[in-house]
Amino acid sequence: MLRPNLRDDFPLLTRTVRNGKPLVYLDSGATAQKPRAVIDAEREFYELHNGAVARGAHLLAEEATDLFEGARGDVARLVGADHGEIVWAENATAALNLVAGGIGNASAGIGGEESARFRIGPGDEICVTETEHHANLVPWQQLAVRTGATLRWIPVDDDGRLILDDLDTLVNDRTRVLAFTHVSNLTGLISPVSTLVARAKQVGALTVLDGCQSVPHLPVDVKALDVDFMAFSAHKMLGPTGIGALYGRKELLDALPPAVFGGGAVTIVTMEKTSWHEAPMRFEAGTQPVAQAVGMGAAARYLMDIGMDAVEAHEREIAAILRGGAAELPGVRLLGPVGDEHARDVVAIAAVAVDGVHPHDVGQVLDDRGIAVRVGHHCAQPLHRRFGITGSTRASAHVYTTPDDARAFVDALATVPAFFGVNA
Ligand code: ALA
Repeated sequence: MLRPNLRDDFPLLTRTVRNGKPLVYLDSGATAQKPRAVIDAEREFYELHNGAVARGAHLLAEEATDLFEGARGDVARLVGADHGEIVWAENATAALNLVAGGIGNASAGIGGEESARFRIGPGDEICVTETEHHANLVPWQQLAVRTGATLRWIPVDDDGRLILDDLDTLVNDRTRVLAFTHVSNLTGLISPVSTLVARAKQVGALTVLDGCQSVPHLPVDVKALDVDFMAFSAHKMLGPTGIGALYGRKELLDALPPAVFGGGAVTIVTMEKTSWHEAPMRFEAGTQPVAQAVGMGAAARYLMDIGMDAVEAHEREIAAILRGGAAELPGVRLLGPVGDEHARDVVAIAAVAVDGVHPHDVGQVLDDRGIAVRVGHHCAQPLHRRFGITGSTRASAHVYTTPDDARAFVDALATVPAFFGVNA
């Protein structure tokens, strides 16, 4: 059970929209709203502690460094990682590019012998899935272009579930990387992580998990999942924009070359060559987004104080209303599996296609009622193409979403076909 007054923690949720209507915020999958604890942490950092991290000999520099590293520890704790296994990145996209870019640099000979294990080239394969959002597809596509490796992907069925019949062929002795999402940002389906990781281990492939839609909503333990890398963003987990994190096994991070080069990440620099710090510093060249990192730490603490089990339980209740309600509406197609028997497999995301109505028009009808949703392809064009559509309308929840919010979405959606004279 959540605290009954939990919504009071989120100042923005009290505002009204569109001529005084209460805001029904159902776009948390794109970006979540922020509790005061996060806003205050960032503000207090600037008001009281701002200083250069890891490079000053004064009190403010010391306080800033302590807060920055403390935040890293809090984020590590949220996902079951060790302190040194969390690398700051601008967002999850940057974190995924950090891995793909590092492998690309290793393949170009950067990093010397310690990075040789990451080298890939013609004859090697990278495997992704058809369910990826662009952040976990495009970097791997481009790595394949850069190195001459071949990109393969695990297809999905009509419900968006990964088809694993040919897993042993798709992930084989030539596979060097298996990158996949933990939770689809379109269907809300939770991937079969243990099956995929087990196969990757059999063939010695690295696993890269996209935790964008899982870390904010479910208990996630990287050691239990046994993945090599995982990327996630702060802004979807109630934290600030401009900051995210990459988890990596320490021994891998210590051998992977950086993708971004510069000061702060290095030990010895001569005019001819450079050697890098161990992780995480080797990946954190230049002045870091310190206040944002402190805000992400506050978000991690806020979620852990609630308890991720409680967050998940609450969002499952919301998912049942969103998905169950949408599935029953005539002229509305719910993407992903339909039916209570699939309830354990999905998070609180409901993307729909309304027959004969463009997603932007659906969004407009909802917005007129004060309901904020995402419309378009949600950076997941291949999965929409697989479903035979170009876009959809997506409601997504977070810990502050109420059953009334979810019912408002379903009620408004029910009016859409008649509003546009479809199925009337
Ligand atoms: N991951 C972002 C979303 O789903 C693109 O909205």
